[in-house]
Amino acid sequence: MTLEEKIDKNRLPKHLAVIMDGNGRWAKKKGLFRSKGHENGSKAVREIVEACAKLPVPYLTLYAFSTENWNRPKLEVETLMKLLVSSLKKEIDTLLDNDIRLNAIGSLDSLPKKAHSELMYVMERTKDNSQMTLTLALSYGSREEITKTIKEISLKVKNNLISPSDIDETMINNHLYTRDLPDVDLLIRTSGEHRISNFLLWQIAYAELYFTETLWPDFRKEHLFEAILNYQNRERRFGKTSEQLYP
Ligand code: IPE
Ligand code: IPE
Ligand code: MG
Repeated sequence: MTLEEKIDKNRLPKHLAVIMDGNGRWAKKKGLFRSKGHENGSKAVREIVEACAKLPVPYLTLYAFSTENWNRPKLEVETLMKLLVSSLKKEIDTLLDNDIRLNAIGSLDSLPKKAHSELMYVMERTKDNSQMTLTLALSYGSREEITKTIKEISLKVKNNLISPSDIDETMINNHLYTRDLPDVDLLIRTSGEHRISNFLLWQIAYAELYFTETLWPDFRKEHLFEAILNYQNRERRFGKTSEQLYP
């Protein structure tokens, strides 16, 4: 039985989020420039996107560039933005062939014009696809997202459109970039780092966390299947007791 066959198709995560980390270290290990790590990272993206669409995992969210990543050397930021544009151009057919809708979260207005317009183009072209929603987190930071949400809600209170007692979790959810996405079920981080790095803080409240030493450019379908099998062996209690779940 292959790893894939062991997966229970009735208990797949509905929303899988991935912190794709370790591109730089992958390149360094091989004596290459960091940009080669990012290039090979984008190859891993294609394999994982296709595998998720096939399973299917209906929502896949990839952390591609954080608000903090703007602080990297200018040349690396430029390389990453160029890679974004070329990947969008190259992968539009993969998205169309696999019935995948592209979505993006983050302060997208901070992206360079070219990256922004290519992103909007691919999102528009794929908007009617329904097998999977692939969300790219670009210039994304959870604190920025939550701050923006608080500002928007406060403004509504100030303008007497709502009162503070109207504010509930649903309203907050509806102001986040992720308003159209379900909560995250499984969060994977590669490269052996055990941290969240400002990713989807609100949305992972009850996510299962999975950390692997594998560097992102080495991450293949089999690693994904391992993570999903591991997830399927966990008991998600959401605060209840085990006995309540299985009376
Ligand atoms: C992840 O790999 C890609 C981005 C953050 C854009 P890194 O570039 O962070 O690789 P490491 O962590 O330095 O190895
Ligand atoms: C998180 O990785 C951001 C992305 C994967 C896009 P980083 O490599 O930027 O995170 P830190 O700096 O190690 O926390
Ligand atoms: Mg990193």
